[in-house]
Amino acid sequence: MARLFDPTRLQRRWQLIVLTAILGIIVFLFFSFERPPPRRRAADTLPISQLGVSLHNQGTAGRLIKPKDIKVIGLVFFGRKDRVRILRCYLERNLAVNGGWLDEVHWVRNTDTKDDVDYLHKLIASNPSYKQIEIKETGFIGYGLAWSTLEEGAIYVKIDDDVVFMADDAVSRVVSTKLAHPECLVVAANMINSPLMGWVHYHMGATHPYLPELINPEDVKPELAPDRGKRPETAKRTDWKYTQHPYWAGPDDYFFSFEQEPPTMRHRWLRLATNAENQVRELKRTPISDAEYKTWGNSVQSWAIAAQQHYSFLENLYEDQLDLYQFSPKAQAWITDYQRLSINFIAINATEILSHLPMDTVDEEWLTVSLPKKIGKSVAVDTHALAVHFSFGGQGDVQTTDLLGRYLDYALENACMAPAPGSKDMKGSYYI
Ligand SMILES: *[C@@H]1O[C@H](CO)[C@@H](O)[C@H](O)[C@H]1NC(C)=O
Repeated sequence: MARLFDPTRLQRRWQLIVLTAILGIIVFLFFSFERPPPRRRAADTLPISQLGVSLHNQGTAGRLIKPKDIKVIGLVFFGRKDRVRILRCYLERNLAVNGGWLDEVHWVRNTDTKDDVDYLHKLIASNPSYKQIEIKETGFIGYGLAWSTLEEGAIYVKIDDDVVFMADDAVSRVVSTKLAHPECLVVAANMINSPLMGWVHYHMGATHPYLPELINPEDVKPELAPDRGKRPETAKRTDWKYTQHPYWAGPDDYFFSFEQEPPTMRHRWLRLATNAENQVRELKRTPISDAEYKTWGNSVQSWAIAAQQHYSFLENLYEDQLDLYQFSPKAQAWITDYQRLSINFIAINATEILSHLPMDTVDEEWLTVSLPKKIGKSVAVDTHALAVHFSFGGQGDVQTTDLLGRYLDYALENACMAPAPGSKDMKGSYYI
């Protein structure tokens, strides 16, 4: 006989109903509450931006926004016209009046050469955002004095006059990182040709096998004989694209050391043709394979190590692979405490500097070693902020290559133009 009433069955059914109801409520609550949007990491996930008008325009989405209440000033120690005619194009793109982050650029005259000084005066007169900082002395003493002219409250981006390329977001990135990390006294850009970062770039696989072109001694024209110490004539514009130049040709056992002297004036370095079989061996016979991670090591002394890094950079620029220099989006900045770091492109807070003046040693040592150590702060390299530094004092022979002419070519083609009004992606008119 079937049982009409089964209390255990009823109990089970109730259990089932209650359980379903609870689950329903949980699901309902889960979907009805507004959840915060997934976390975005500032602009980090984007590749290093190329110039907005370059061949390889990567767009401007996700650009960093400049905080309204912060004044950003560029600080340039001016020395050489043939460098600054390249730098000025990048600076002008970065002026606040052109949509960039630099409200002003302050120029410190650091030369007495008439030709160069005349150029500086014309340059300053050409743009209302430019201002000359008058220092009584030039050279070493002038450098020290210049730091006392900082404006309280401003963020400064100190840029060397021989910075010959900067990514469009280099300024905004070093400034943003400085603002977000008050524990860092100095935030430096990730420089191509930097005694510390050059080693990092090589070991990350961003430096390629290049060697100086082999020229028959009989074919060297007298005016191209290497003459060390002589100031070479102004660089001629030369095609910056490595694909427009031949591959290197020479004996298989040819080796070029980082200590060797330049073969001729205005020579070029050429790419070694590589494949999976020979690429390791080819790189090992080029100067970069001996580069050191050391403030006063060969990376700051050797013109050849510098040259190879420059030619490799121009290849990476052409191949649209500047992210070879950049750490992962989640990576922290590269900390250099307390090894002296070159200050070719750095963001600092004027208030912090002014409150600790005067400097008791040369500015670079003070900013990246003595002061941060004394006040317990860090010095960091933002690997996502990319710029190129032409040469250090001991690398003067970099000017025997055609590199300055190539950087000039790239700048003229991609950077030296006024932005077209109303359109970010349209070429404008040339400044020069
Ligand atoms: C600069 O440093 C001062 C002193 O530490 C601080 O009060 C100020 O907020 C900093 N300025 C910016 C823009 O971060």
